[in-house]
Amino acid sequence: MASKFFDHKRIERNVTLLAVLAFVAVAIGGIVEIAPLFWIDSTIERVQGVRPYTPLEQAGRDIYVREGCYSCHSQQIRPFRDEVERYGHYSLAAESMFDHPFQWGSKRTGPDLARVGSRYSDEWHVQHLKDPRSVVPESVMPPYAFLAGRDLKTDLTARDLTALRRVGVPYSEEDIRKAAADVIIQGGGEGDADDLRRRYPKAQVRDFDGDPNRLTEMDALVAYLQMLGTTVDVSKAGPQETRQ
Ligand code: HEC
Repeated sequence: MASKFFDHKRIERNVTLLAVLAFVAVAIGGIVEIAPLFWIDSTIERVQGVRPYTPLEQAGRDIYVREGCYSCHSQQIRPFRDEVERYGHYSLAAESMFDHPFQWGSKRTGPDLARVGSRYSDEWHVQHLKDPRSVVPESVMPPYAFLAGRDLKTDLTARDLTALRRVGVPYSEEDIRKAAADVIIQGGGEGDADDLRRRYPKAQVRDFDGDPNRLTEMDALVAYLQMLGTTVDVSKAGPQETRQ
């Protein structure tokens, strides 16, 4: 259809003109999508209960990443009925806002772990991590018994938190100053646990690995697993959900 202003034949025959106009059309779409991001503070709705990881949980998270648990486990429950019935309330964007790097994952050889916290006892986790087939005979998960024999290093904990603060995790000066001590307190050692819980609400404080004389990588990993999905009261977060 040829009109004075819109001669499509000419556009289709002139590759330069076509390229220029296609670029203009795509640019308009791009600007409409991208420009608002410069004016809004955050794309993530704040949700009550979401807090940065305690230094011990963060150490456990670092071990989770180091051991590649993400290659078999996702941490993102999608809003489909089968997933919600199996794993619990679908994941909220805010629940991974302090994750660097995020652990959503793309493969589920094992189950999703986004809400595994408090589902099993510490003893179950320790036994399962040491020898998965002793509790789930058909499991193909590799054993991680060595974690129970490795002391958790705390010398770099404060720097770990400092690095996370640089990418936007709101740790305070106090959190960073007390980081190494917080690790010991949360693992069941000496110190002011109330102060820890004041700064990190719902933090679980106890010996996690069944060996109160030592603070091991197992303590950190189990502390991390036990908090996954436990900080937000999801029954309040999903108005359209009828079941919990
Ligand atoms: C080779 C794949 C594989 C890797 C790697 C792996 N897992 Fe698993 N995991 C599984 C499978 C399969 C299951 C289900 C059977 C079972 O419970 O052992 C499972 C189950 C679990 C469960 C129980 C979840 C539930 O809801 O029942 C936890 C917790 C867990 N894994 C944690 C970890 C952690 C932590 C790591 C890293 C240290 C890890 N897994 C590494 C395959 C894997």
